[in-house]
Amino acid sequence: MKLQGTMQINDKGHLEIGSCDTVELAESFGTPLYVMDEQYFRQNCRSYYRAFTEKYDGVVLYAAKTLLTLAICHIVAEEGLSLDVVSGGELYTAKKARFPMERVYFHGNNKSVAELKLALEYKVGRIIVDNRHELLMLNRLAGEAGVQAKIMLRLTPGVEAHTHEYIKTGQIDSKFGIVIENGQAMEIIKQALALENIQLTGLHCHIGSQIFEMQSYTHAAEVMLAFTALVHQETGWQPEEMNFGGGMGIYYTSADKPQPVIKYADMLVPAVQTLSKSYGLSVPKVLVEPGRSISGPAGTTLYTVGAVKDIPGIRKYVAVDGGMGDNPRPALYQARYEALLANRAAQQQKEMVSIAGKCCESGDMLIWDIELPAPVPGDILAVSATGAYNYSMSMNYNRLPRPAMVLVRDGVADIIVTRETYDDLIRNDLVPERLDDRVVRIAGAVR
Ligand code: LLP
Repeated sequence: MKLQGTMQINDKGHLEIGSCDTVELAESFGTPLYVMDEQYFRQNCRSYYRAFTEKYDGVVLYAAKTLLTLAICHIVAEEGLSLDVVSGGELYTAKKARFPMERVYFHGNNKSVAELKLALEYKVGRIIVDNRHELLMLNRLAGEAGVQAKIMLRLTPGVEAHTHEYIKTGQIDSKFGIVIENGQAMEIIKQALALENIQLTGLHCHIGSQIFEMQSYTHAAEVMLAFTALVHQETGWQPEEMNFGGGMGIYYTSADKPQPVIKYADMLVPAVQTLSKSYGLSVPKVLVEPGRSISGPAGTTLYTVGAVKDIPGIRKYVAVDGGMGDNPRPALYQARYEALLANRAAQQQKEMVSIAGKCCESGDMLIWDIELPAPVPGDILAVSATGAYNYSMSMNYNRLPRPAMVLVRDGVADIIVTRETYDDLIRNDLVPERLDDRVVRIAGAVR
């Protein structure tokens, strides 16, 4: 496993993160445990801030969908980033964390009336409108509230980024955004410009996730600016800001070759500037919405090894106390991860094993074929790069409680999400009285 962020192996041969011994973390807080490396998370925020905001006067929005908790909101706010939220729940979390609402951008392809009302009430910075239905609904709600809604329109530029099928979003056949190519985008822009309670500030696109080919972004910029030139010709309007979404790929395994953020900024922003000038447009502010590349590498999940099942000549299954409940990505996207034994991190002798989760699903395999020092029950397995789309996509399948999360830094570990209890699992369950009655009657009858 590649050591990232503040990871190191201490003289006990244990993995350390944020100068905390992960074996001690597992003992103190139990497993499975999400460990967030605060320094690394902040460093990732800063790389974006420096590259886009300091160098080019752009805006960086942290994509909350990758990982959002109250503590994470505080850090993101402190680091000067803005926030991309996609639901009432994410918005509410930001509000509760007292995140500056003017720095919140509200996304989503099917926002409800209640969500839009909440966004207007909280006075979020922008609403990124995805479709005509939403545009008209928002115009009405803003009118009722006596305000002007500042919006960006999400467009589908028809750019295909090379990534997993399920996480490609910029192509034309997509549930997200408004298609440029067939004229629908032009039509909706004209409509937005004519609406009384709508102020159109800019355009948005997002071409996918876990992207390594930087040319995909410049290609998106070409399409967006060529279209903007047409819009300008037809309407006289031009965007003050242009948002290119998220998507920067990260290192999960040696097959992944992430690019430095500065390279991304140095390709995208000058491309937008040059293209704008060549079309005689004023240069829009460039916005980006990274999520995975900020939170992903900063997270590690600790598990305890349980049953080890050897099928000679076939495979050795090493089962851990978590799995698809806390990390559904391998089951959903065939995502690959690296891992090591945190309590024997320096050990060289290795054998090939596969890591199984504990859910009642054959597909609940965290890692197929990984070399580890012969795992035995009680070992602590650390899986790296689990900071994005793990906790946020976690679930209670098989009524497994969600793990706790600790934020580690300089030898201090703070719990930022408590472990779910069995009582949390039944918190929303109700038993109608008549069922209770029946149990009593049947029990009585049996007796
Ligand atoms: N902006 C928009 C409009 C998005 O749809 C997304 C991700 C982002 C920003 C952040 O993209 P990032 O920088 O994290 O790549 N659950 C999948 C990924 C789904 C991506 C959804 N949209 C996974 O676990 O791989």
